[in-house]
Amino acid sequence: MKKEKPILFTGIRPTGEVHIANLLAAIYPAVKAQDDYEEYLCIVDLHAITTPYNPEDMSQAIKEVAVDYLAAGINPDKVVLFVQSHIPYHTELMWLLNTITSVGELQRMTQYKEFKSRYKDAKAGILNYPVLMAADILLYKAKYVPVGEDQMQHLELARDIAKRFNQTFKKEVFPIPELAKLTEKPLRIKALNNPKNKMSKSLGPKSYIAIADDPDTIRRKISSAVTDTGPSQDTEKMSAGVANLFLLLRLTADEKTYNHMEEHYKNKTLKYVELKAVLAESIIDFLKPIQEKREELLDNIDYVAKVLSEGREKAYHKAGQVIKEVKEVMGLL
Ligand code: TRP
Repeated sequence: MKKEKPILFTGIRPTGEVHIANLLAAIYPAVKAQDDYEEYLCIVDLHAITTPYNPEDMSQAIKEVAVDYLAAGINPDKVVLFVQSHIPYHTELMWLLNTITSVGELQRMTQYKEFKSRYKDAKAGILNYPVLMAADILLYKAKYVPVGEDQMQHLELARDIAKRFNQTFKKEVFPIPELAKLTEKPLRIKALNNPKNKMSKSLGPKSYIAIADDPDTIRRKISSAVTDTGPSQDTEKMSAGVANLFLLLRLTADEKTYNHMEEHYKNKTLKYVELKAVLAESIIDFLKPIQEKREELLDNIDYVAKVLSEGREKAYHKAGQVIKEVKEVMGLL
């Protein structure tokens, strides 16, 4: 008999341009995981609309996330790649879980507090955001969830909700989800223009390399990255900016190139213009195959739509079984 694989669920916000930190820290690990897990990759459009957005751009953003994951090597025969709003069970389960979630615990969520202060008139969707996220995970009975540090609190809440549900209705319906560790240690890739903070679209286009950036844009962004006054200073410790460039080099260049640059740095003979030139070419080469694949997929968007519609079929089937079980134990029939 075929051994059952553990279930892994990831939610991806369709936020438009994907950058190299997303690619290295989230997308490639998801690609690597596809052989070892029953993997659900869900494009979470219902989460994305909880903050101000432009409806005209949304459907394109959704398709582009799918394109990016497929271009990076997600195999739709192995992974269920689908759109959250295509499966009405997500919002149905969210409602059911709302009935066992207290307002107080939602109000204590850091992200809620941040959003509430950032968008004066925060909507109820922001408060309920983590309940929808718990529903996403539990609807597929996922055991493993890869999230970044900023989403750990929401994962904790999903665990609490799962435990509370099982206790309240006296049946182990949901496995308790836990953090999937798909990389050895979390990759902390920093913003090029602001290396104290993590690389993020919110810090502006100079802070990140988008996976669709052309070679000249990449050269320009890398050459203006923040460093320090030079490796000849007394301290052995790299500044945050230089360490970030070395991290990117380690992740994109071959070992020989990396070692060579590191040696140079240790000997205090490295000029940062040189490091930047080598790094820019290394990133350009690294992104080339995925950029070619992206172009191919963007020219063939019907294929992408077909993948998402097949994903919907598979997700719908699995989620339908779980929602039936949930409603049964809750006495709804
Ligand atoms: N909230 C997550 C984020 O902002 C996205 C997300 C939604 C998610 N549902 C999920 C992540 C379920 C993991 C599992 O990045």
